Amino acid sequence: MNQKASKLLPVPIILDIRNISKSFGSIRAVSNASIKLEAGKIHGLIGPNGAGKSTLFNIVAGVYKPDSGSVELAGKNVTGLPAHKMFASGLLRTFQIPHEYSNMTSVENLMMVPDKQLGENLSNALFRPQYFRAQEEETLSKALEIIDFLGLKRVQNELAGNLSGGQKKLLELGRTLMVDAKIVLLDELGAGVNRTLLNTLSNNIKKLNRERGQSYFIIEHNIEFISRLCDKVTVMVEGEVATEGTPQQVLNNPMVVDAYFGGGKRMDWL
Ligand SMILES: Nc1ncnc2c1ncn2[C@@H]1O[C@H](COP(=O)(O)OP(=O)(O)OP(=O)(O)O)[C@@H](O)[C@H]1O
Ligand SMILES: [Mg+2]
Repeated sequence: MNQKASKLLPVPIILDIRNISKSFGSIRAVSNASIKLEAGKIHGLIGPNGAGKSTLFNIVAGVYKPDSGSVELAGKNVTGLPAHKMFASGLLRTFQIPHEYSNMTSVENLMMVPDKQLGENLSNALFRPQYFRAQEEETLSKALEIIDFLGLKRVQNELAGNLSGGQKKLLELGRTLMVDAKIVLLDELGAGVNRTLLNTLSNNIKKLNRERGQSYFIIEHNIEFISRLCDKVTVMVEGEVATEGTPQQVLNNPMVVDAYFGGGKRMDWL
C-alpha cells in the first residue's frame, strides 16, 4: 500500500464513548462526555476531584448504566452490559483486592481470577480430572510468571492482606494480566505508591502495552506518571470533557494552565 493510501485509513477505535450522561439525584456526575480511544494506545483521564472520572469508568465497565449515551467496544455496542459481560468481551478494570481474598497468598489471588471458560473448567474438573489438573498447572505457571514480572517473588506466598499498599497495587495489576484483556482500565493505580514503585508500574504498563498490544485507559492524579505513559490525555471538569490531546498539548493548553497551574503553581489535585 502506498503511503498516501495508508494515511487515509481510519485509526481503529477500541473504545468509543459517546455523549454519556449520568446523574446521582441532583448531581450531574457525567455530562454529555464523548471520548474515543485508539486501539493499542495508552489514554489518560485527568481532572479535579469529583470531575466524574470514576463514574465514567464505572459506566464503561458496566457497574452503572448511563442515563443517556452509548459505549462501543471494538465496534460492538456494549452500553449498559453488566460487568461480567464486559469482562467476557475483553474489558477489564482493576478493583481493590476483595476482602475475602486477603487470607489467600499472592499467587492464589492471581489463580482466583475468573476464567472466561469457568463452566467448561468445572465440567472438566468433574468429568476429566486429568485435564483439569493440567489446566490448573498452566494457571499456576502463568501466575508465577506474572509474580516474577511484577517483582513480587519475595511475597508470592505471603497472604495478600499482609502486603504493603504498593504491593497490593501490583497484585491488582497482576490480576488483569491473568486474562487476555483487549483494554484495561486503571483507576488511580498509583495512589499511595512510592516513586520507585510508580516507575516500576509505569514501565510494566508500557511493556505490556508494547508486547501484548493491550490498550489502557488510566485515571491518575500524578501528572508526571500520565505524561510519561500516555499517548493521549482527556481532561474532565465538572462532568464534562474540557479538552484532550497529547500530554504536551494538554499541559500547555492555556485553559488547563490557567485553571490548574494558576500563577505557575500546581493545584493540589495534581
Ligand atoms: N454512587 C454515587 N452516589 C451519589 N453520588 C455519587 C456517586 N458516585 C459519584 N458521585 C458523585 O458524582 C461526582 C463525580 O464523582 P466521581 O467519583 O466520578 O469523581 P472523580 O473524578 O473520580 O473524583 P476523584 O478524583 O476524587 O476520584 C461527585 O460529585 C460524587 O460525589
Ligand atoms: Mg475517582
